[in-house]
Amino acid sequence: MKNQNTQLKPAGPRIASRSAGLLIRPNTYRAAVLALFFYGATLLSTSAASTDTITVINTNDSGPGSLRQALVNVNDGDTINFDSSLNGQKITLTSGQLNLDKDVTISGPGAKNLAVDGNRRSRVFYVNPGKTVTIDGLTVANGSSDFYGGGIYNDSAALTVTNCVLSGNSAYSGGGIRNESANGGATLTVTNCTISSNSAAGGGGIANLTSGGDATLMVINCTISENSGDYDGGDGIANYAGDKEVEARCHAATAGIDAAIDDMIPVVTRHPNASILGVLLAAGMRTESIRANVKLAISGGQNEPRDAISGSVWALLTHPEQLALVHAGKAEWIDVFEEYARWIAPIQMSPRRVAKPWSYGGIDFEPEDRVFFMFGSANRDEACFAEPDSFDITRNTQKSIAFGAGPHYCAGAFASRAMVADVALPSAFARLKGLRLDEREPVRIGGWAFRGLLNLPVVWDAG
Ligand code: HEM
Repeated sequence: MKNQNTQLKPAGPRIASRSAGLLIRPNTYRAAVLALFFYGATLLSTSAASTDTITVINTNDSGPGSLRQALVNVNDGDTINFDSSLNGQKITLTSGQLNLDKDVTISGPGAKNLAVDGNRRSRVFYVNPGKTVTIDGLTVANGSSDFYGGGIYNDSAALTVTNCVLSGNSAYSGGGIRNESANGGATLTVTNCTISSNSAAGGGGIANLTSGGDATLMVINCTISENSGDYDGGDGIANYAGDKEVEARCHAATAGIDAAIDDMIPVVTRHPNASILGVLLAAGMRTESIRANVKLAISGGQNEPRDAISGSVWALLTHPEQLALVHAGKAEWIDVFEEYARWIAPIQMSPRRVAKPWSYGGIDFEPEDRVFFMFGSANRDEACFAEPDSFDITRNTQKSIAFGAGPHYCAGAFASRAMVADVALPSAFARLKGLRLDEREPVRIGGWAFRGLLNLPVVWDAG
């Protein structure tokens, strides 16, 4: 076992290059690094001057021999590798993200052999502006950020990620990785990686955002699957730079809905019914408003009931004592729905644009400022709810703002209550005898603006 700080391969004009197959003289090295980087070649090791290799020897969150300590000890150009005794293990972060503020290569033993896990509490890696970093051969899992890059946030740096798995990470933007040029140019090259089961409001897998200099993203030979994004580009990769293609897809989708409405108007006019189209037609609303209202009902009414139904079922299956209360007639299905919507609000956050100068809580807001209403957080306010983190269907949920408040109070609140509490939940538990979780597959929860179950593996008894 090697100690940290051990210089395994001492100084020297040592250059290793791959794929480009080049040998570069030391004094031209730095320029060549840049040239190669921009032409997409992959460099394995760094620096023409003295470089060290520091070996991580334990899976501790911090302290001697840990990855966190290695990142403190490295100098520009150094490499961090891992003792083979760590194969098959996991480094679980308990004191926050790992800060990459040097030009460093983290050379893992392979994504199958070692995971760095954000513990669903923090982002895994933060790459500081201006740095050149390579992360190779690791699983980056369960990182979480309320803002950017749950797995990795590349903040205006040159980041190469190779042979990694990014999975189970979540953020507001860029669940797996966010590449952003807020503080200068940002370059992200992702090669031979699997990016799956990450989630975000925008860019479940990767978000690439040009906000200062150029943000360049190269994805080579990667598998990107089952990431979820709520908006701004949908699943996989979001492009906040106003991608014309995304915009065109959106226009095509809304035009398709308009066409379907136009097709149905004569039909429903001849045979009135109680559908939303029928009701709006009967009210004499003009076609343009009917179209807008139907689209609003679709967008407003799809995610949340889906998340509330699957989430309530999951909550009851994981809290059988609460389900027993319903079966014993000591609580109602509506109590389940209201408490679930408080506990894991299907809409956790809603954005607003400040219209006029305003002050609140000692903070001054100016017109055009952006603010987030955190419904999910308010619903766990200790001042309003005792033990807010627990799922308790007997509690008083009157102060819950799962459906919002004020002029934008949810237009579908009462329809949802009927749909979930009168129909979906009683039907599911009455018809699916012995309904239980399928323990072979873990339940995944994701989403920051819209939050809910990403899967609900269940089994029930035949007959
Ligand atoms: C579990 C079910 C639901 C939950 C938790 C929920 C939650 C919310 C919340 C929190 C808002 C306020 C957003 C804001 O202030 O920015 C809202 C607005 C809205 N919801 Fe729902 N919703 C649900 C179901 C539905 C359904 C089924 C429909 C339609 C059929 C619907 C239609 C709308 C509309 C149109 C608005 C916008 C109202 C406005 O801005 O004036 N919702 N919902």
